[in-house]
Amino acid sequence: MLKKKIDKTQMYLDVAKLHINSIKDGFLPSLGVKFLALLYRCIDEADFSTLIVKYRGAELIGFVSGTFGTSSLYKLMLAHPIELTRALFMIIFNFKKIKKIIQIHNHITGKKRRKYPQAELLTICVHPDYRRKGIANELYKKLSNFFNSKSIFEFVIVVGQSLKANSFYINQGAKLKDTIQVHSKQNSNIFIQKI
Ligand SMILES: CC(C)(COP(=O)(O)OP(=O)(O)OC[C@H]1O[C@@H](n2cnc3c(N)ncnc32)[C@H](O)[C@@H]1OP(=O)(O)O)[C@@H](O)C(=O)NCCC(=O)NCCS
Repeated sequence: MLKKKIDKTQMYLDVAKLHINSIKDGFLPSLGVKFLALLYRCIDEADFSTLIVKYRGAELIGFVSGTFGTSSLYKLMLAHPIELTRALFMIIFNFKKIKKIIQIHNHITGKKRRKYPQAELLTICVHPDYRRKGIANELYKKLSNFFNSKSIFEFVIVVGQSLKANSFYINQGAKLKDTIQVHSKQNSNIFIQKI
C-alpha cells in the first residue's frame, strides 16, 4: 500500500512541537518552534544525519534524530539566513540565551566530548499518549540500523541526569561512561551504545 506523502514543512513543525512538549525544561525548546523546525529540517537534509519519524494517521507519535558530524549542523543552519534570523529574532538581544547557545557550541567542540565517538543520538521523543508501548524501542533500532549502514558501530547519548529517559537508555544496554555540564548547574550523563 502506498503511504501518503508527508508534507515536510508540516513534519518539521510536528517534530519541533513534540520536542518542545516532551522536554519542557530543555534549553533548545526555549529557542522556539521556528528554530527547532529549521534545526530538524537541516538534520533531515544533511547526508551525515537522520530524522526518523513515526506517524499514526496525521499524528506524529514519535521521532528520533542522530548525527555523525554534529558541529556542522549549526553551520548548515547558517545556510538558511532568512529563516534563521526570523527564528532567532525574538532572542537576539537575550544575553542568557545567546550565552547558552555558545555553551552548546563549546560542548560539541570541547575536549571532553571529543574523547567519545562522534556519532550521537540527538533526541528521541514519544508522544505522552503512546509511551511504554515499545515505540522508542522501535525508533532506537532504526537509528542503530542507520549508523550500521554507515559502518558506525557505537554512538553517544548525552542526557540530562534528571530525565526518566536514562532508564530507557540503560534498558537498551547503553553504558554510562561519564558526566558533563553542558550548561552550568545542569549535569548530564554520557552513555555509549554499542551496536
Ligand atoms: C524516553 C522515551 C523516549 C521512552 O519512550 P517509550 O516509547 O515510552 O519507551 P519504550 O516503551 O520503548 O520503553 C522501553 C523500555 O525502556 C524503559 N523505560 C522507558 N520509559 C521509562 C520510564 N519513563 N521510566 C522507567 N523506565 C522506562 C523500560 O524498561 C521500558 O520497557 P517496559 O515498558 O517493558 O518496562 C519517552 O519517555 C519520552 O519521549 N520522554 C520524554 C523525552 C525525553 O526525555 N527524551 C530523551 C532525551 S533526548
